[in-house]
Amino acid sequence: MKIFKTRRELQQFALELKRSGKTVGFVPTMGYLHAGHMSLIDIAREKADVVIVSIFVNPTQFGPTEDLDRYPRDFERDLAMCTEHKVDVIFAPEPGEMYNADSSTWVEEKKLSGPLCGASRPCFYRGVTTVVSKLFNLVMPDFAVFGWKDAQQLLVIKRMVRDLDFPVEIIGAPLVRDTDGLALSSRNRYLSDDERTRALAIHRNLLAVREKVEADGASVLESALARARKGIEESGGRIDYVTALDVDTMEEPVSGTKALLVAAAVFYGTTRLIDNEVVELK
Ligand code: PAF
Repeated sequence: MKIFKTRRELQQFALELKRSGKTVGFVPTMGYLHAGHMSLIDIAREKADVVIVSIFVNPTQFGPTEDLDRYPRDFERDLAMCTEHKVDVIFAPEPGEMYNADSSTWVEEKKLSGPLCGASRPCFYRGVTTVVSKLFNLVMPDFAVFGWKDAQQLLVIKRMVRDLDFPVEIIGAPLVRDTDGLALSSRNRYLSDDERTRALAIHRNLLAVREKVEADGASVLESALARARKGIEESGGRIDYVTALDVDTMEEPVSGTKALLVAAAVFYGTTRLIDNEVVELK
């Protein structure tokens, strides 16, 4: 496995891959890898000649009061997991390597990134779309894999790729849960045992919304969401949002809505967790 630390050596290598006609699959990450990341890597491994994984805790997607400094990092463990899953190349730049000191260019998606996490974390998607654009220009992948765990991120990246004509196929991979139902996230590490147990209420309640709407239709959505909010609050969660939007438009559902993104962001202690269910409407 090759490890590149600089943009220049990665881009040089990627150019050579392109010229040789090899298919390149890319999985961008912020490290502290878990089984969710491995599922993305396994999808890339199935389809590509060469699998490239980036490990970079991207400062531009963290707000000033967020957890950039304490975001979990364990490079040796990440390396071992990538080796086991047959990754070919890791790109792991130091914080100062990724952006020019006087960088003044941003990539911003202005529609799908507005609600949900975009409303609570105003710099977040601008940081994500900017770093992912840079990574696409460095890696030049044929396809990149993003998880449905970060559903809004996946939709924003797809829109950016469409609007800016990046020649990259975006593959959405299913959300991966722990055996008890908690969506896998590097941030789960912050949770105490008690918080982790209480946080199971997120999935339980989103699932209840899904089952209710699948059984009785969209007319029961608001009451189902209200019950979910109550259930999550009773578990001790501080709700950022628990809501449902049209998954295609990220707007309030209308009569023509085909599928809902039922999504939640909830704090347990100081840890903000996100989760979602996609509900097809008949
Ligand atoms: O999902 C993540 O880990 C990050 O937002 C990403 C896509 C690697 C960009 O920093």
